[in-house]
Amino acid sequence: MITAQYPLTLKDRSYSVYIGMDAGSAFAPKCIEHGISKSLVIITDTHVASVYLKPMLNNLRHHGFAVLSIVIPPGERQKSIRRAGMLYTELLLHAVDRTTAIIALGGGVIGDLAGFVAATYQRGIPLIHVPTTLLAQVDSAIGGKTAVNHSLGKNMIGSFYQPKFVWEDITVLATLPFREIICGMGEVVKYGIIRDQNLFMFLENNLEAVIRCSREELLFVQSQCIAIKTDIVSRDEFEQNIRIILNAGHTVGHALESAGHYRALKHGEAVLLGLAAESYIAQKMGILPAESYERIIRLIGRIPMKANVSSLRMPDILSALQWDKKRIGKKIRFVLPKSIGETVVIDEVDNRLVREAVRMVLSS
Ligand SMILES: NC(=O)c1ccc[n+]([C@@H]2O[C@H](COP(=O)([O-])OP(=O)(O)OC[C@H]3O[C@@H](n4cnc5c(N)ncnc54)[C@H](O)[C@@H]3O)[C@@H](O)[C@H]2O)c1
Ligand SMILES: [Zn+2]
Repeated sequence: MITAQYPLTLKDRSYSVYIGMDAGSAFAPKCIEHGISKSLVIITDTHVASVYLKPMLNNLRHHGFAVLSIVIPPGERQKSIRRAGMLYTELLLHAVDRTTAIIALGGGVIGDLAGFVAATYQRGIPLIHVPTTLLAQVDSAIGGKTAVNHSLGKNMIGSFYQPKFVWEDITVLATLPFREIICGMGEVVKYGIIRDQNLFMFLENNLEAVIRCSREELLFVQSQCIAIKTDIVSRDEFEQNIRIILNAGHTVGHALESAGHYRALKHGEAVLLGLAAESYIAQKMGILPAESYERIIRLIGRIPMKANVSSLRMPDILSALQWDKKRIGKKIRFVLPKSIGETVVIDEVDNRLVREAVRMVLSS
């Protein structure tokens, strides 16, 4: 059952995010309603395929779709030009034409990779996102950012490419490993800090239920997150102004992720630590009141994160910061919290303070 629909208004690229539970059988009819062609390619990974591929194939075939499925190994390393090249080959060998739609069934890795392939194969073919992780449902599947990684930096090769629609069934989160739920919480807490003090307060009062994936609390939190993301992207599709606030926690977060060679920390874990570090910077600079800072640190501290930061080295973190995509010339751009629910963009942050903030999160 689909319980809500959130529109993104992007002129001729407008689309909707549908959210609900136990909604599998309604997927093929929704494709038909959206005029999706009867020929489809599902791109997914082995973990997701083992649970969700067959039901999706059955549903689609039952409604007359011809479906090719491509199953790749899981993991961030798959977000590569090499893997994209292998997917192009597969599509060409199966004579996939420009009317065929790609369904990205999986977490953020599959969404970014399959999205990148859909954006570039024969100059772009239709795309449908079916995110299956908390992180992908609240964040990566919405807004059209697609990318693969380069050895010199994460997400360095990519494009903006919007899907025809996004289909989110929170039931699939039941099989998600606990660590992945924690990762999704990185983005969830971020939305509270940048935009929504009520969401932040709800998390303070219901954190354990949300992490346990208690349906009612989870559906509420996800709906708030999706509403925020769709609203921000609708105002600034190409990140020329307000969309930058979605990068809160990500300046330090990406640097930590990179310094750990994308193995020590997962994206969402790095974002949680990044949010703590950047809140520290904001408080020290007199931008964020001490009381709000303490609430942020307390909430993040309650999230049972098992990440191991002992292998991270300060010089690697500082050099990774220099590669930040938001960098303008030599300055590193930070999105810092001003209060819970509001941010400010700052280009001048003392390097010593950045180091102090990183040291603080590594030792906590
Ligand atoms: N495009 C964007 O705007 C954007 C935003 C945030 C993050 N990202 C990207 O997203 C990626 C991280 O995504 P992620 O955290 O979803 O990781 P992921 O895609 O690697 O998924 C995490 C793990 O969970 C497994 N899995 C997925 N769904 C499952 C389910 N329902 N049940 C059981 N197992 C399941 C996957 O196989 C994988 O092993 C990063 O590459 C990051 O850069 C992109
Ligand atoms: Zn993120």
